[in-house]
Amino acid sequence: MDRIDVVPLPQVVLRRPGAFLLDGEVALVATGMAVPAAWLLHDLLRPGTGYALRILSTDDGVTRPVVLKLDLSRVAHPEGYLLDVQPDRVDLVAATVQGLGWAVQTFRQLLPSRTLRSAPVAAGPIEVGCVSVADEPRFPWRGLMLDVARHFMRKDFLLRMVDLAALHRLNVLHLHLNDDQGWRLEVPSWPRLTEAGCWRPETATGPTVALIGHDGTPHGGFYRIDDLREIVGYAAGRGLTVVPEMGIPGHTQAALSAYPELGTTSPHPVRTRWGHSPHVLAPCPEALEFIIDVLDVVTDVFPSPFVHIGGDECPRDEWRASGYARKRAAELGLPSVDSLQSWFLRAAITHLASRQRRAVGWDQVMEDGGVPGDTVVMCWRDWVPNLAAMTMAAGHDVVQCPADATYLDHYQSDHPGEPVAFPKTTTLTHTAGYDPVPPELMAVQGAGVVLGTQAHLWTEHMSNPRQVEYMAFPRLAAVAEAAWTGMDRRREHPLDARLLGYLSRLDALGVEYRPPTGPLPWQEGGSGARCRD
Ligand code: ACM
Repeated sequence: MDRIDVVPLPQVVLRRPGAFLLDGEVALVATGMAVPAAWLLHDLLRPGTGYALRILSTDDGVTRPVVLKLDLSRVAHPEGYLLDVQPDRVDLVAATVQGLGWAVQTFRQLLPSRTLRSAPVAAGPIEVGCVSVADEPRFPWRGLMLDVARHFMRKDFLLRMVDLAALHRLNVLHLHLNDDQGWRLEVPSWPRLTEAGCWRPETATGPTVALIGHDGTPHGGFYRIDDLREIVGYAAGRGLTVVPEMGIPGHTQAALSAYPELGTTSPHPVRTRWGHSPHVLAPCPEALEFIIDVLDVVTDVFPSPFVHIGGDECPRDEWRASGYARKRAAELGLPSVDSLQSWFLRAAITHLASRQRRAVGWDQVMEDGGVPGDTVVMCWRDWVPNLAAMTMAAGHDVVQCPADATYLDHYQSDHPGEPVAFPKTTTLTHTAGYDPVPPELMAVQGAGVVLGTQAHLWTEHMSNPRQVEYMAFPRLAAVAEAAWTGMDRRREHPLDARLLGYLSRLDALGVEYRPPTGPLPWQEGGSGARCRD
């Protein structure tokens, strides 16, 4: 019997004798709320198997049914599922349609990889070895962050990433929609954001810190509101929530390029080099109005209960140098201009609360006055001792984002041919050993909990989907496994042993991952603009 190489590893997998034959005679059986999951399975199986399976409401008279059912008495966890493959039937049981979706994704991985292709490539029966799976995730937040600000990624690639994330049973797509280098969200009442703020005349080449030069080529793009509604709906159909991030008060130079009156200093063009800008929002009424308008679009377009407001890396130099900012801080009764950071964040959080949304911020939101306790904090600075523990002790729920394990913009190895990346190294092995709640954190008796973890694709050095896929895969498998599967089970069944099967699925899907032996010649940085630093 072949090895079961599902990624992320389910909690319980028991091989049984025999096999189920998947052919055109098979019918999918579902009623009520389970019907959308049956359609999902239908749609996912059709291209690679060639079978447009019937969807029926009863298994009476069906020779080999695949039954999808919601049954709260058998599965309690909202994202848990049971999957039973027997010679004469397959049963998928969950408490919710989302849980059924995860059963569907696991079922796909039990099939030969070729069935993930966009058309059948072999004739003959498809055998699925009999197996019983009982599964539920370790964490409710299992995310993938894609930075579409540093490099715009076209819509069809976002939809592809949703599909790939769903295959990994990830349930959050976090979109980083603005930064100093570009603004990506259509905001009808502030049109210059997507006329001027969404493109730059050229882009820095070379490493993150040392500037080699500029490429002289314009780069940009933005998402129309209907593009985003489409992405949100597509993601929802696959069990994912799209969490938008509109970062304030720093990382806003692209917005300032479009509306200089929102800043304290003269106009600044969209930033063409990496690193974060010293130019940030001024504490003026127009900036607050801007934030409210943007958040109103965001809450209208994204049904996500969570909205990310950034809050990281906001240099205070402009505020210190500005008589207006100092006066404003004094009028507001703030101890110093530094507290303008939390003043901005609190205004955004209050507005989001009025729209029944919960704010999320990077861990610097804890500084200079902090934020209300129900703000979710993404702890990313791995070099700050006890960061997650302190954050939870302060009452915040945490998403674990330690850069050393989850920042997939880091180099994947010491190989001299690795293409230019952020100058740190995060190997697959390191991430495969990453525990979002290490023992020392389990001992923390704070009011906050660890909601989960996510992977981060900052795209300074990824200008197109091929480069994103190279950096994302296979490390995304390790983050997804950290998010779904408990540590004991991961130690017992290391990802390594399932990697070849996993990679064969990526091959079928045409994902340009980094091979375990190192970059392929055309994936290397060479000695040109993508040379490693
Ligand atoms: C971050 O990496 N600045 C969140």
